[in-house]
Amino acid sequence: MKYFKKLIGNKCYLSPINIEDAEKYTEWLNDLEVSKYLSLSREQITLQKEKEILEDMSKTRAQVFGIIDKKTDNLIGNCSLFSINHPNKRAEFGIFIGDKRYWNKGYGTEATKLILDYGFNILNLNSIMLEVYSFNKRAIKSYEKIGFKTIGKRRQAKIIGGKKYDIFYMDILADEFKSIYIKQLLEC
Ligand SMILES: CC(C)(COP(=O)(O)OP(=O)(O)OC[C@H]1O[C@@H](n2cnc3c(N)ncnc32)[C@H](O)[C@@H]1OP(=O)(O)O)[C@@H](O)C(=O)NCCC(=O)NCCS
Repeated sequence: MKYFKKLIGNKCYLSPINIEDAEKYTEWLNDLEVSKYLSLSREQITLQKEKEILEDMSKTRAQVFGIIDKKTDNLIGNCSLFSINHPNKRAEFGIFIGDKRYWNKGYGTEATKLILDYGFNILNLNSIMLEVYSFNKRAIKSYEKIGFKTIGKRRQAKIIGGKKYDIFYMDILADEFKSIYIKQLLEC
């Protein structure tokens, strides 16, 4: 068994990352259609480098999960909480669905809700923040549906394809989030 059902939704579940998936991640992170939305588009991600990244991630205190399609048990992407600051109960969030066949089908929104549920109701965080490029309309829509609010922007801080774009900062607080999984587990 490659994947483990740590947080379970209707379409997908989140599993601890598996270092054996390094090749799949390397393929996705070298696909500019995916990486243009991430800070990694200018990086050369080799298989060796990706293995090291995954090993480092599994050793740090970042919370990193594979996103697994429930129907097929296939890995489709990755999401994480990082820069976790426990005294102030805050963290940052990142996500990508590398398998483009799964875009626009609700998987990203559900995976985000699952990891927020974990952050707010297991790690007891209070504030989770993300950065998103202004041209990433799909991601912004998904985040707004979940309850993230835009709290500011850094103007013209992303330059790609000869154009300048803003970086938006969005956050969500624990009391603005409705649990989809963990609170049900506690109902006896
Ligand atoms: C961003 C991402 C995680 C979203 O996940 P997803 O499963 O594709 O998105 P969902 O289907 O859950 O939700 C997307 C919503 O945006 C809408 N949408 C799609 N394209 C849009 C556009 N150009 N403008 C406005 N809304 C758009 C969809 O209709 C959907 O809303 P709906 O459910 O109300 O119809 C995923 O597309 C992804 O990984 N993209 C590449 C990497 C990336 O952008 N990572 C995030 C970096 S901040």
